[in-house]
Amino acid sequence: MILSKENVFHLSTKDTSYILFVDKSNHVGLQYYGTILPILNDYEPINEKLKYSYGTSVISENEENAQISLDYATLEYSTPGRGDYNEPSIILKNNDGYIFDFVYDSCSLEKEEIKLKELPSPKGIFEHLTIKLIDKNTKISAELHYFLDEESNIILRNTKIINNSNEEIHVLKLMSMQLELQNKDFEILNLYGGWACENNKNFTKLGHGIFINDSKTGYSSHKHNPFFMIKEESADYNNGDVYAFNLIYSGNHYEMVELNTFDKVRIQNGINPYLFDKIIAPGESFESPISVLTYSNKGMNGCSQNMHKFINNHIVQDSYKFVEKPILINNWEATMMNFTENKVLSIVKEAKKYGIENFALDDGWFIGRNNDSGGLGDYEVDKKKLPHGLDHLAKKVKKNNMNFGLWVEPEMINENSNLYREHPDWIISNPKIAPNKGRNQFVLDLTRKEARDYIVENIEKTLGSAEISYIKWDCNRHISDVFDKNGKHGEFLYNYMVGLYEILDKITANHPDLLIEMCASGGNRFDLGMLRYCSQIWTSDDTDAFERISIQSGIALGYPLSTISNHVSGYTSQQLLRKIPLETRFNVACFGVLGYEFDVNELSSVEKEMFKNEIDFYKEHRFLFQYGNFYQIQTFEKSKKTIWQVMNNDKSEAVIGMFNSLQEIKGGYDVLLGKDFIDDATYEITVRKQKHYVKEFGNLINQKLGKIHVSETGKLVDFANRHFALDAETEHYVVKGKLINSGAIKLKQEWKGTGFDDDVRLLGDFGSRLYYIKKID
Ligand code: DGJ
Repeated sequence: MILSKENVFHLSTKDTSYILFVDKSNHVGLQYYGTILPILNDYEPINEKLKYSYGTSVISENEENAQISLDYATLEYSTPGRGDYNEPSIILKNNDGYIFDFVYDSCSLEKEEIKLKELPSPKGIFEHLTIKLIDKNTKISAELHYFLDEESNIILRNTKIINNSNEEIHVLKLMSMQLELQNKDFEILNLYGGWACENNKNFTKLGHGIFINDSKTGYSSHKHNPFFMIKEESADYNNGDVYAFNLIYSGNHYEMVELNTFDKVRIQNGINPYLFDKIIAPGESFESPISVLTYSNKGMNGCSQNMHKFINNHIVQDSYKFVEKPILINNWEATMMNFTENKVLSIVKEAKKYGIENFALDDGWFIGRNNDSGGLGDYEVDKKKLPHGLDHLAKKVKKNNMNFGLWVEPEMINENSNLYREHPDWIISNPKIAPNKGRNQFVLDLTRKEARDYIVENIEKTLGSAEISYIKWDCNRHISDVFDKNGKHGEFLYNYMVGLYEILDKITANHPDLLIEMCASGGNRFDLGMLRYCSQIWTSDDTDAFERISIQSGIALGYPLSTISNHVSGYTSQQLLRKIPLETRFNVACFGVLGYEFDVNELSSVEKEMFKNEIDFYKEHRFLFQYGNFYQIQTFEKSKKTIWQVMNNDKSEAVIGMFNSLQEIKGGYDVLLGKDFIDDATYEITVRKQKHYVKEFGNLINQKLGKIHVSETGKLVDFANRHFALDAETEHYVVKGKLINSGAIKLKQEWKGTGFDDDVRLLGDFGSRLYYIKKID
């Protein structure tokens, strides 16, 4: 609900309030953001009491309350040059320089869809407040837009500049939002990373000065995701005050947190001003991407769950809104580009037996694509690998009761391609400088209509050539050599994104049911702009289950499990050469959209049994794993075990996952710790049935064999390892929810080097368990 009264705007979501004031100098600022407050008769008590200016401050003599300097007023936007020496959110330039001062002009309230001219916006009808500001000198106006998603406790914001002057203006910086809070011992949580090591959590105590989280790669990037949090230092996953922010944009982004001398925390996000200079002609306007804000007093999980709800309801592809996504098998780690039709069909035929629902043919299917130095740009099927073409292969896959999917990388081009030979000028480059390559490829200049049309045509041709129900849209390098053919170099990176969104708009409009998985060398473009056109994103090329726990834990802070695509890959991780049992690889990958990426034919009979049980278990609880409320109960930052929980809305079903780091003899017992179970309801708890490889016991096997002695590296043990497995412990409890919430249930004794039977929980290095919990009364 939005209340607008005199000089106050009171925005309320289900659990939060956001209260704005127009101050005596006619600037608009935030006076409260936190737990919901009732509508007040008098808002003066929550207004900051500022009467006298501090020494050396610059004040405006013309304003009614001349004692207030913009340097310590509380501002929802800010410009340079009038006494505010903190980081500005709007920097404009015209022939007279940089000085603009936006003051309150008017406001309007609507209930409507959000429609940005060039950028993706959330779907749905939102209550909408527009605050119109004006620079009296030039008549240029700025609009602050606020949209409410009450149910998810989300406030959406963006800023628009309208050039009512009679000369061009340059927009050098336009933040989607700025807000200011009083410091409460805050720390910042942002996500940093790189290829195959995305989403590392970075907790930084907020100190005086400026903290920037941004991307300059042209894409949102794995370097720093646009999602970030600001939390009280004492807040943890379940308790305490936390604010979270994101941006619906896939290009260079910028998040700034400044703590100034007066303990005000200025927070901004928007398009990165780096290499940015957008020119607006008289009469024209420019609007920023949408910023997403939330607050919770229930810790980081509270904010994450708000974000998840919002994204599932208003961002992802319509046709996959709360729809269970299929289990997929992809041939990448099994074959890389070295495959034949027979090979992939052998994977399909075997996978079908276990209930896999989709097969995706990855990179390498078109001519000239035997390694990553050629072929991108041309999408003619390589008949040496697929002699009967895509249609034939798709039909064969269909005959095996699976849907067919295909990898594409449409924004890229190799020098060794027909497209490059015909249109060398379509790549991003300054004709006077030899362009740099990334993964042996160039980036197509999507500000060129002919390049955009080519991509749409090509994708349409490919989609029309066979029954394709899924595509993986890859993007394997950053942008370099920025150059605009019309000389508007400062607009180039923004216009590239607008071009990409136009392409995606066209393709998704023509194929609303096509399941699209975005990918950029893994999570190099995991953002809300991309999610507006797809329903899941490949999280990381690192499929090592142990590393994946942290990678998934990081990304799930801001994005729902339904969008996080995870694959179970082979026993030996191709990225780290670490060996992790199949049971754990599954237990980690199932928190999200499950897929596989190995040659099923190579599984031992023991593993095939595990594989079958895992898929059955996932299918039975798929909705929980993709759309359940996700709680990070315990994480590796502070504990040697990670505990995750997914729970449905009515709290009648949940799965708790427990993941071990390294096994130790020392240490006590484990408890089953959950969150938000109904205290006095009765729940039944069972552990998912798991198996142990014989080889896990090494030489200790001989303790069981009596007189026979076998070598743990010998053929006999190898054979046994493939055909026989030991059952892991069973656990079963019927308890009141309060016991789970309080961590009162002690799990069976953990393996400590002595004795193994059904009463011993052998987790081992990187071991894990899933506990299924159902309300029975
Ligand atoms: C990067 C992706 O993340 C991988 O999964 C795979 O599709 C390769 N590209 C193919 O080139």
